[in-house]
Amino acid sequence: MVVLPRHARRRSGNPYGTPNSSYSQRSSANDDSYHGHPYGPPSRILSQQSILLLLAGMGLGYMVTVNIGNVSNVSLDAIVKNLEEQRAAAATPGSFSSPLDMMNNQREAAALLRGDGSNYVSNHRRASSDADVSEAEDASSISPEDENEPEEPEGMRRSVPAEEVSNAISGPDEDELDGKSAAKNSVHGGKNTKHTFKEQAEEEEDIQDLGGAEQRFMETQKLIASQSIPTATNPHVMKTPTIPDAKRKKILITGGAGFVGSHLTDKLMMEGHEVIVLDNFFTGQRKNVDHWMHHPRFSLVVHDVTEPIMLEVDEIYHLACPASPPHYQYNPVKTIKTSTMGTINMLGLAKRVGAKMLLTSTSEIYGDPQVHPQPESYWGNVNTIGPRACYDEGKRVAETMMYSYKNQNNVDVRVARIFNTFGPRMHPNDGRVVSNFIIQTLQNKALTIYGDGSQTRSFQYVSDLVDGLHALMNGGYDMPVNLGNPDEYTVKHFAEYIKEITKSDSEITFLPATKDDPTQRKPDISTAKRELDWEPKVTVKEGLQKTMAYFSRVLEEAGEIIPTGPEASKPKRKIVDE
Ligand SMILES: NC(=O)c1ccc[n+]([C@@H]2O[C@H](COP(=O)([O-])OP(=O)(O)OC[C@H]3O[C@@H](n4cnc5c(N)ncnc54)[C@H](O)[C@@H]3O)[C@@H](O)[C@H]2O)c1
Repeated sequence: MVVLPRHARRRSGNPYGTPNSSYSQRSSANDDSYHGHPYGPPSRILSQQSILLLLAGMGLGYMVTVNIGNVSNVSLDAIVKNLEEQRAAAATPGSFSSPLDMMNNQREAAALLRGDGSNYVSNHRRASSDADVSEAEDASSISPEDENEPEEPEGMRRSVPAEEVSNAISGPDEDELDGKSAAKNSVHGGKNTKHTFKEQAEEEEDIQDLGGAEQRFMETQKLIASQSIPTATNPHVMKTPTIPDAKRKKILITGGAGFVGSHLTDKLMMEGHEVIVLDNFFTGQRKNVDHWMHHPRFSLVVHDVTEPIMLEVDEIYHLACPASPPHYQYNPVKTIKTSTMGTINMLGLAKRVGAKMLLTSTSEIYGDPQVHPQPESYWGNVNTIGPRACYDEGKRVAETMMYSYKNQNNVDVRVARIFNTFGPRMHPNDGRVVSNFIIQTLQNKALTIYGDGSQTRSFQYVSDLVDGLHALMNGGYDMPVNLGNPDEYTVKHFAEYIKEITKSDSEITFLPATKDDPTQRKPDISTAKRELDWEPKVTVKEGLQKTMAYFSRVLEEAGEIIPTGPEASKPKRKIVDE
């Protein structure tokens, strides 16, 4: 489901004037989509209509929600496997419920609404589950032409009169209502089966109301059914576990269509939660979350965090912000607005709805560090007016806002300081060292190093980061926590390592260093170990192999990718004719 808020539709073009226009956005303009109930998650409010929707939803056979066992370590492989299973199932004729099944479920629901459902449901279930029942017989059991059909074998004869079943489909007419009233009188009237005239009139009114509700319900279901029939082009619904209402959280992920956000979305969806991804698609890609688009517990909101938004959620993972230097330096003013206005908007939301909020801060808040490795207690060494300041200082002030809201407004906050992370779904043009080296080596191009290559970096695989974010959000520790892999490489050594793994003959070339590039970077992760019982599990080599496999596929699709260098980050100067 894609929701495009009104003000987002008014805006045209990318707010950053991004180079990312090759990634198309498709969205439906549904202004009135409803994301929450002001008094608690609507999923927990049971009404007559929701029972009906639930029953009919069960009939939408391919919207399956089944327990797939242990999902705590969900990986991209699991997602791919899930999709492959779905595709294989789709290829098997009859693996999805037929429209007839859907109609049967609607009728069962309608019958239940009138109170005659138990008979109808049980009889229909019995008939449809009996292998000997021909389709004609099954259809006749729910059709008004029932009376003209040959008699069913005794064992399957339905105990519900045909006209009663017919009501379940078409709604009762006046005569039938009389009959129904009489039947009701004889049941719940007990000894005295007589109703007063007024009572009878009220009862009839109620039933007529139900008729209207039923009709609306049927119309809605028809619409849903017609939109949801699987086709060769729409992706199948991912299988996710069912968890009790009381445990299911409604979780907002800003920047959820980006690299890290999409992996986090996978984890939370695979745990059975309801996830709302909010993204303006500056660096996010719709394909990162495409596999969730038809899932009933997933929503995509195309929105910019610099604008306020009203949602009802239990938790907010606030990731929205371009993360790579070429992207965040492309429009520095927008970057600082995203970190400041965006974070304050999300904190306002968290405060209003009482949600817990996690900020993805960065190791960049340490600037060019003079302490090595960097513990959380280190205050950093940031140039406030350098090219990286829009990002570094933006995140620093975002952290300050988090703790101001905690201290002043009791917002429950979490802050993760993330060190270099890599993995599948990194943007191919994000200009980061891992993606650049992999793309260059896969195309047998020279590996480009900015500076002499003696600067150090430590790289963590994305699944480790996602596990760390999850542990932080769900634990009790609310001070900043470094999340990174302390395995440290010089950039030159890293380039050689990638060449070695891929058995590549690519050259290594050295280009001028970029301004304010930190000379060393290595996390001290003792807080994460102590407070979250977390440490990275995936080795750099394992991670690189998975990432290379991903980029090989991306390259197959794209033909050629020219990795972004620092120059690409410069905003184009406006040429004004005088
Ligand atoms: N990947 C890393 O190595 C790393 C390191 C440190 C911190 N982080 C932080 O983690 C978060 C995610 O990083 P990532 O690597 O996935 O980056 P990414 O660029 O892939 O994802 C960022 C997402 O935010 C969206 N976005 C940007 N500005 C927005 C706005 N104004 N409104 C709505 N959406 C907006 C983008 O479209 C994108 O989907 C960021 O906050 C980043 O600062 C990442």
